[in-house]
Amino acid sequence: MTVVSKSPQIKICDSSDAAASAVASIFAAAIGQQSQSTDRDLVLGLATGGTPIRVYRKLVEMHDNDRLDFSAVTTFNLDEYVGLPGDHPQSYRYFMQQQLFDHINVDLHRTHVPDGTAADLATAACDYEGRIRQAGGIDLQLLGIGSNGHIAFNEPGSAADSRTRVVDLTSETIEANARFFDSPDQVPRKAITMGIGTILEARQIVLMATGSKKADAVYRALHGPVTTENPASLLRQHSQVVFVLDREAAARLPS
Ligand code: F6R
Repeated sequence: MTVVSKSPQIKICDSSDAAASAVASIFAAAIGQQSQSTDRDLVLGLATGGTPIRVYRKLVEMHDNDRLDFSAVTTFNLDEYVGLPGDHPQSYRYFMQQQLFDHINVDLHRTHVPDGTAADLATAACDYEGRIRQAGGIDLQLLGIGSNGHIAFNEPGSAADSRTRVVDLTSETIEANARFFDSPDQVPRKAITMGIGTILEARQIVLMATGSKKADAVYRALHGPVTTENPASLLRQHSQVVFVLDREAAARLPS
């Protein structure tokens, strides 16, 4: 599928640390603005993986040192492995608790991660969509990118209007994520993930990528065809997207 594109903004930072600071500042600004208003919570879409770890560390520092206030924030994570309970060290719920939620003043009842252990996963996925809608939709969504162009666990071939659902992970993603497990055999084969349609409904999207391993994926997302074969390229259909990159991830972009 090829569709017409709109250009995302691109911010290239000198280092991965500077990229994390830039992303943390975007989130802190939105949180700060929201604390001035009492209408409704700010709804953040959050990601796991190696890329956002430093962003979360910086947000925790801002909470500790600058009183960044998460009391009026609701969060929805992109995805979770099927079969891993929230107290499993490789589950994404556990990751979020360790990296962010345990260190800030967010109300844990307002933090959402898909339930990979639900008896009826299809219903759980549908409910997740309902909870996002009830919260008023996602205001600001953080994304990483897979080397195959996946966003969340929407692997190549995922429909542009896909919603939260159970998906099979590709062997490439299983291999990439094996670094967090003792062996590749332990990586779950399925996940529950927000869909591309869900992600594209966020009001603003920040995609962060660092390191040379992401250079090809970033180049293809921004300059390859807009196609479901490369999920990240579909972000070019959204008018409020910023790619925050370090120099290595931006290495293949035209200067
Ligand atoms: C994580 C997620 C994934 C990662 C992507 C990049 O919640 O949805 O799409 O963002 O696999 O992972 P890292 O950051 O580990 O390179």
